[in-house]
Amino acid sequence: MTPEIWDFISGGAGEELTLAANLAAFEQVRLRPRVLSGTGRPDIATRILGRTWAAPVAVAPMAYHTLADPEGELATVQAAGAAGIPVVVSTFAGRTFEELAAAANAPLWLQVYCFRDRAVTRRLIERAEHAGFEALVLTVDSPHLGRRLRDVRNGFRLPPDVAPANLEPAEHGGADFSSPAAHARAELDPSLDWQVVDWLRSITSLPVLLKGVLTAKDGLRTTEAGAAGIVVSNHGGRQLDGLPAALDVLPEIASAVAGRCPVILDGGIRRGRDVLASLALGADAVMLGRPVLHGLAVRQREGVAHVLDIIIDELMDAMTLTGVGSPAEAGPELVQLIGHPRARPRPAAQGLTKEDLHASVGDPVMDTMNFLNEITTRYPEAISFAPGRPYDGSFDTEQIFTHIRRYLDYLAETGHTPGQVRDALFQYGPTAGRIRELIATSVRQDEDIDVPPESIVVTVGCQEAMFLVLRALIADPGDVLMVSSPCYVGITGAARILDIELTAVQEREDGLSCADLEAAILAERACGRRPRACYVIPDHSNPSGITMPLQARLGLLELAERHDILILEDSPYRLVSPGRQVPTLKSLDRDHRVVHLGSFSKSAFPGARVGYVIADQMVSDAAGGTGLLADELAKIKSMLTVNTSPLSQAAVAGMLLASGGGIAERNKGAAAYYGNAMRATLARLDQCFPAARRAALGVRWNEPSGGFFLTLHVPFRVDNAALERSAQEFGVIWTPMSYFYPQGGGEYTIRLSVSYVTQQDIEQGIERLALFVESEARAAKKG
Ligand code: FNR
Repeated sequence: MTPEIWDFISGGAGEELTLAANLAAFEQVRLRPRVLSGTGRPDIATRILGRTWAAPVAVAPMAYHTLADPEGELATVQAAGAAGIPVVVSTFAGRTFEELAAAANAPLWLQVYCFRDRAVTRRLIERAEHAGFEALVLTVDSPHLGRRLRDVRNGFRLPPDVAPANLEPAEHGGADFSSPAAHARAELDPSLDWQVVDWLRSITSLPVLLKGVLTAKDGLRTTEAGAAGIVVSNHGGRQLDGLPAALDVLPEIASAVAGRCPVILDGGIRRGRDVLASLALGADAVMLGRPVLHGLAVRQREGVAHVLDIIIDELMDAMTLTGVGSPAEAGPELVQLIGHPRARPRPAAQGLTKEDLHASVGDPVMDTMNFLNEITTRYPEAISFAPGRPYDGSFDTEQIFTHIRRYLDYLAETGHTPGQVRDALFQYGPTAGRIRELIATSVRQDEDIDVPPESIVVTVGCQEAMFLVLRALIADPGDVLMVSSPCYVGITGAARILDIELTAVQEREDGLSCADLEAAILAERACGRRPRACYVIPDHSNPSGITMPLQARLGLLELAERHDILILEDSPYRLVSPGRQVPTLKSLDRDHRVVHLGSFSKSAFPGARVGYVIADQMVSDAAGGTGLLADELAKIKSMLTVNTSPLSQAAVAGMLLASGGGIAERNKGAAAYYGNAMRATLARLDQCFPAARRAALGVRWNEPSGGFFLTLHVPFRVDNAALERSAQEFGVIWTPMSYFYPQGGGEYTIRLSVSYVTQQDIEQGIERLALFVESEARAAKKG
């Protein structure tokens, strides 16, 4: 090759940081072999979009193979066909679709760049489809080409014998094809949005994949947009320099997509072991870029065939030596990532840097509550439908003393010596809690949950219970926690802090669907991961307000049994909701599938910080011993908070004693109060958005039968900036629902909490909200 062509092929954008990062990411992977696996010869055949590939490898779309050799793509498709793997043919191929289709005996896909003139794009697609191409790969990272400095310095132009064989000069108004960058700027549509997926699907029956996705959010969006697959790619470092290595973002995307469509990775694959590492980190297949052109330049078809053989042989080798029998068996447990940033020298900084802290501190989910607090303090006059805190009108300071006194009297009456009574307040006390019997009685009376006190651990709020359970259940990197999306931030945050992978299952209008959960579980398994548990708030959920019907609860229990997972049931709002409640999952649980997370924050008072977990699952050890999961949770608690404050336990215990054991009766007043607040809010929404206006605006809300929350769908994007406008200009605060979507979504919905507003606040606040919604809807329409 001439130096200029070499530079065009091997170079990247800017300082080539991303190009280097793609390769460096694979250098940080070590494979953890499984010995004596009995695997034999691995079977590397892979099914993608209904077709079997001989190996989980394809040739990435690359413009002008004719730069490497005059045979160009013709040689490439023949070599790939012999190896049984597909080729993605670039819009800027140097040979025609028809001659490639005639020569190929493996699947051909078309890589699509969308031209400003849609008719041109359409004709290209029609020609490819007619020639028998099987899928379209829309490249979404290239509104124009990246700044490739080598090409700029070389003044790179295509040699006279190299041209885009499938573009008709006449259709392109005499465009100059010889400068790829200038041509792309002139002709590619830089303003594509998600509607292009609909457009492509309307003009072709071929599956459409998107190439160039680099975040979990866009991955999820891709599936929602109806695309058939994702190529995780930074274009081989050729577009924006400074993008992350493709391999580094693969796990978060694969986990967000959760098997809904194939995920293919390209960028930096140079060895068979790189293919295996990609599969282990979530890819269904990979695409090979530059090495193919290198092979082509060295010895045409034979050179490409040799490159593919080497990669495939090395993949077989790596799989055999790690005991992996098929691509589906390669999971995250196969991989160890070394060279953590900490190990790399960095210039000394003053004090600490955020990079030196755990990554969770930089995660936006951790800032959501801070932002809400800050807004509330900055706009004290605003009416706030944000906080999920209980109404405090009935709190009475003196009651705390009465409750503690009552508990101490109870201890004395039940045979405790004065020394023991004193210890009950002053000493550490048992890790699992002092008031387990009283809690066991209360859940029996209130919730029909009949468990021995030993299966209960008293915790510092329900939040600690979540930490204990997650820490105990999620044992290795391949274990995942399933959650519904939207989801309570407490569990998402806990998982983030513990580096636990979440898989979010989208809720439907009527809540989590068992069929969706099952599909997600199967997809996880297919990727080699092990779903351990599913977290749900079945009653008046936070944030969506939805209650799971009895039938769905029974279905969920059956599913848990069938797939051997646990259900983490969190139900803080039941006892403060009016009317009859659907039975808890725990009371329906015959097979010890449910770990129940309880809280006294709503039913007693949040300042106590008393929660509990019911974990009556049997745990056996290798020596044949058995115990309860609660015992294991208590061990973890002993190193986390040691005890739940005995003072707090005493106050809650006194409250339980005062109300005859259960707490439901005592909460009837609170339940009626919140029920009224919910009804008043719904009625006010009805008044402020009369049916016709509501329909015209596209506003709708749900009507929860209890709990603190309802959700309002609006016709504009709601984010922190919108919240700020609402607080500043309209004097009303709420919570953007996007906070509660762990893998993206909810941008058009807000959460309203009715627990901490007075009737007067509701009257005025909803009116202000309506004005805000009208104003934003007008602005959105104009914009
Ligand atoms: C590319 N790539 C590319 N991608 C695309 O969607 N359409 C295209 O026309 C081209 N053209 C192209 C030309 C050349 C010379 C190269 C090297 C790359 C990007 C390609 O599909 C792929 O993302 C990367 O090449 C993968 O990285 P590796 O394997 O080259 O590191």
